[in-house]
Amino acid sequence: MKGIFPVERFQNVETPFYYYNADLLRETLNVIRTEAGKYNKFCVHYAIKANANPKILGIIRESGLGVDCVSGWEIEAAIQAGFPASKIVFAGVGKTDKEINLALDHDIFCFNVESVPELEVINQLAAGKNKIARVAFRINPDVGAHTHANITTGLAENKFGISMQDMDKVIDRALEMNHVKFVGLHFHIGSQILDMGDFIALCNRVNELQEKLYARQIIVEHINVGGGLGIDYAHPNRQSIPDFAEYFATYHKHLKLRPQQTLHFELGRSVVGQCGSLITRVIYVKQGTNKQFAIVDAGMTDLIRPALYQAYHKIENISSEEPVETYDVVGPICESSDVFGKAIDLNRTHRGDFLALRSAGAYGEIMASGYNCRPLPKGYTSDELR
Ligand code: LLP
Repeated sequence: MKGIFPVERFQNVETPFYYYNADLLRETLNVIRTEAGKYNKFCVHYAIKANANPKILGIIRESGLGVDCVSGWEIEAAIQAGFPASKIVFAGVGKTDKEINLALDHDIFCFNVESVPELEVINQLAAGKNKIARVAFRINPDVGAHTHANITTGLAENKFGISMQDMDKVIDRALEMNHVKFVGLHFHIGSQILDMGDFIALCNRVNELQEKLYARQIIVEHINVGGGLGIDYAHPNRQSIPDFAEYFATYHKHLKLRPQQTLHFELGRSVVGQCGSLITRVIYVKQGTNKQFAIVDAGMTDLIRPALYQAYHKIENISSEEPVETYDVVGPICESSDVFGKAIDLNRTHRGDFLALRSAGAYGEIMASGYNCRPLPKGYTSDELR
């Protein structure tokens, strides 16, 4: 055992694979439950897009969280894992008729609607089933988040949500319809947000929009502020559980809720990010002209974040305790972006050593692809490999 990894248990497992520390996940969920529980109107949904591994979903379901889905397949995965449909919210700019019908059949908690054409279709499909769909409008608050451009979602230029100017029109349209019930407002400004000031900016905007609604004597049942809380990729051991106390307290302090309103969150990365690592074996150590490469059996197909977002994942050699040397850690895929890290300090590395790419529990396994005809990586929890 080196550090937190049961390396001896890894010997017979085919690499690469995702290893999930189930104890850390449970602890994280406990902290979420305790901290959100301090405010009796806070409801937390897990953004299943971050990781839909059935074993992970099982643990999250036990904690009582709801789910945030962005496709019919995610709804099916959530139902399969035993989450009650009454705790499912469904977002996405391009919901198909088939997906809407599925959500209607399950009587999910709420559709987060992103456009008028979508609202029309939901109303029509609900009419066909003689149902009333609960809808929240996803409002684009035009609040920037200090994060990577590819994961900023709340700016006017992004494709997401309904613009603030159109909010009244959309509400008017919904109020005329017989098969939708307008119950909430939804927001999401981006992901991997570490500056609480960004969430405060969102709160201020939500307060402003709520004032406008109060002026029309409208008080929605719920406000959903999305997710976005970031994790400390640089120090997965030092801060393995994000500061949920500060996060929820920020919303409690800055968001003005009416007594009858509930506040919903859709957290993905902060729930599962730190509990997962991609475990890979070194195939070759290759001496280049002026650097050395650790060539591993995982590639960008298994963890695409470094190639796609230039994301940093801490890399550790969990087999070696020898003096540190510097390596470029690269995968076997035929793309020059298939690099996990350049000039990385690792304990002296040999063929066959295990490397752990840390903080890979969110948007890791779920974003894997089959490029180069590679099989998708499997995921194991510490409960299984104990
Ligand atoms: N709600 C909505 C509407 C979202 O679009 C997202 C994430 C979440 C909640 C959850 O956000 P979180 O708490 O995980 O930040 N693949 C990227 C991240 C994309 C996030 C997309 N939306 C990555 O690997 O960094």
